[in-house]
Amino acid sequence: NKFDFGMIGLGVMGRNLLYNMADHGFSVIGLDLDKEKADALETGATKGTQVKGTTDTQDFIKQLATPRKITLLVPAGKPVDAVVNSLLPYLDKGDIIIDGGNSHYTDTLRRVKDLEEKGFHFMGMGVSGGEKGARFGPSIMPGGDKEAYNHIKPLLEAVSAKVNGEPCTAYMGKDAAGHYVKMVHNGIEYAIMQTLSEVYDLLKTGQDYSNEDLHKLFKNWNEGRLQSFLVEITRDIFATKDTESNNYLVDMILDKAGAKGTGKWTSQDAMDTGVSIPTIDVSVSMRTISAYKNERLAAAKIYQPVVEKILTDKDEFAKQLEDTLFLTMIICYAQGLALLVKASEELSMEIPLHDVVKIWRGGCIIRSTLLEDFYKAYNNNPKLANILLDESISKLVKPCIASMRAVVSQATKSGIAVAAIQCSLAYLESYTSAKMPTNLIQAQRDDFGSHTYQRIDKEGIFHTEWETHEN
Ligand code: 6PG
Repeated sequence: NKFDFGMIGLGVMGRNLLYNMADHGFSVIGLDLDKEKADALETGATKGTQVKGTTDTQDFIKQLATPRKITLLVPAGKPVDAVVNSLLPYLDKGDIIIDGGNSHYTDTLRRVKDLEEKGFHFMGMGVSGGEKGARFGPSIMPGGDKEAYNHIKPLLEAVSAKVNGEPCTAYMGKDAAGHYVKMVHNGIEYAIMQTLSEVYDLLKTGQDYSNEDLHKLFKNWNEGRLQSFLVEITRDIFATKDTESNNYLVDMILDKAGAKGTGKWTSQDAMDTGVSIPTIDVSVSMRTISAYKNERLAAAKIYQPVVEKILTDKDEFAKQLEDTLFLTMIICYAQGLALLVKASEELSMEIPLHDVVKIWRGGCIIRSTLLEDFYKAYNNNPKLANILLDESISKLVKPCIASMRAVVSQATKSGIAVAAIQCSLAYLESYTSAKMPTNLIQAQRDDFGSHTYQRIDKEGIFHTEWETHEN
């Protein structure tokens, strides 16, 4: 008997996703050149499931039912090309290769084209939810060849997370849409994480919250409209002790953030596409600054920054922060989703936005109850350019604006950096402004570079010989 599905790369994600498939009744075979990983695969499987590990590519290919359905979960970049090339001599026309890693969408576009010419199907598929997600139900974002998708649809629907009985997977659109959607998912992930770290700083540094206090507040928040995976794990992090020092573990962790690149890619691509996503941009930047630990230590010696405590009543401030976090989260999603709308058009990906928010409701890192509201908004209007334009969303936004302004001004006064919150407020103020001060920028451009401008009172393109007025 041949195996239904194959997986290449038996690291944490690959192995767990494979077990998840096996638990749903599919027979699966995994390939990894590391013998230990290949051997360990069968040992970790649920009894009675059909799971096999191998280190031999030819054996792996031979044992798969055709058309072969092979998922890759290997590091993005060269390893994907290397693995694909190692398979090609043994594949038959019509076989399906699915890249489940965080590949850059332009690489996926190239691979789709290359392999199509050779008679194979290639799909880019975002998988979110970390180790537990992979094992018990991730959010899965496949895109590309629709014919190939139909072959793997039943499997994906079986293994994905479920919300109200609906699978957290759907076809994300043509070509590299799956990887594009996952990239933007990660951009939003960066922005919400940065926002949470700023809220933490305001409470801990500004109001001397202990980890116990933080745990309680986040627990409370997670039971309301902020309910989300990231708030939930943050709650748990505040309660976790370090086994070595007996301090809280979070206090023992060096303040240098890592990044594998997906957040940066989101910002780079938004710049190229002409979509404003400042909260995501600044979140990438803050991780970058965090990595200059030595320079920051030197600068802190020179500048000796002093943080002024936040004297607002604790309950009142907590309420203002709850509003602020809620609104900033909405704005993080708004920016990411607006990028998807525009990129989908530019790259003709036909990304169904209502399905994107639908499948983000469960399994993935940015799952939250808010996505239910966005889902309704896109169901009302699938062509919504920005969720801030939806009336029901505006009703959530408006009551929080005053709190957000209060928090930003308090943070500024205290000397606590709140880049993501501040950028979100500036984005909101600008996006909802019928009149921006950019008329001045146009005048300056025309003055020094004859770049021309448009007028408010008549159609056309104008240029002025600007005069010098020294007195
Ligand atoms: C997910 C995550 C996952 C991974 C990120 C981490 O959706 O499950 O986004 O893909 O944890 O790539 O990214 P950084 O290392 O860049 O923070």
